[in-house]
Amino acid sequence: MLQINKNMSLLALTSILLFFFMAFTAIDARILPPAVVDTDGNPVQVGVYYHLVPPPRLGAGGGLALGPNRNHSKTCPLSVVQLGLDAMRALPIRFIPVAPLGDGVDVRTSTDYIFEFNTTGTNSSICGKEPKWKVDEFDGSVGTYFISTTNEITTGMAYKFQIRRFGSIESVTTYKLFCCTTYPFVLCIDVGVYRDADGVQRLALTNDSPLELVFSKASSVEQINVL
Ligand SMILES: *[C@@H]1O[C@H](CO)[C@@H](O)[C@H](O)[C@H]1NC(C)=O
Ligand SMILES: *[C@@H]1O[C@H](CO)[C@@H](O)[C@H](O)[C@H]1NC(C)=O
Ligand SMILES: *[C@@H]1O[C@H](CO)[C@@H](O)[C@H](O)[C@H]1NC(C)=O
Repeated sequence: MLQINKNMSLLALTSILLFFFMAFTAIDARILPPAVVDTDGNPVQVGVYYHLVPPPRLGAGGGLALGPNRNHSKTCPLSVVQLGLDAMRALPIRFIPVAPLGDGVDVRTSTDYIFEFNTTGTNSSICGKEPKWKVDEFDGSVGTYFISTTNEITTGMAYKFQIRRFGSIESVTTYKLFCCTTYPFVLCIDVGVYRDADGVQRLALTNDSPLELVFSKASSVEQINVL
């Protein structure tokens, strides 16, 4: 009997807590979309570097970095690619809000960011130390838009990327990337991988197979050669 009462009061307490939690979450959600969380469960922060890697599982491939461009040459601008098996070789990346956000530090889902690599100390720095992602113009030869980089954002350029929730794997939240191009018309679509004839896995816009990713906080001491 005592046991039942205990359980019931626990249930009541849980309901009350849940009610307040949901009430506050609802208020918060009206103001700002949810924060993106990293593999440790901490909010992803503006200006801090992360590795974007697929959730660790067999055949998922490596992290995001710079690779040869569509001319198959290591000349500028380099393309954004997914590496082979070694996830740790991803280049550190940070997220710069396109429009100033009220609360500052947390990176949020469904919000526009500039994605910026830090190539310092790697041989990817041949095209600048802080290349930013941009969507190339439509490539009619394969019927898709590839993602490459630029050192300078200009108007008319498609460079705003969003992070959207994909799912979760063993309590780690996974995400996909999302982008709106402006040419030849406005098209909002997921970011996936296009495997080139030479085996390079290029990031490209896709409407059927978004790339599932997690955010792993980068340590400042990593020096990698990825190209
Ligand atoms: C590829 O080469 C062509 C012709 O030289 C040039 O116009 C184009 O800008 C190059 N593209 C890239 C991505 O380097
Ligand atoms: C890029 O990374 C290097 C090495 O970790 C660091 O010293 C530098 O401050 C970083 N650049 C920026 C703009 O934070
Ligand atoms: C960068 O480093 C990698 C690994 O050491 C090497 O395979 C590649 O040829 C280098 N690329 C350039 C442009 O130096």
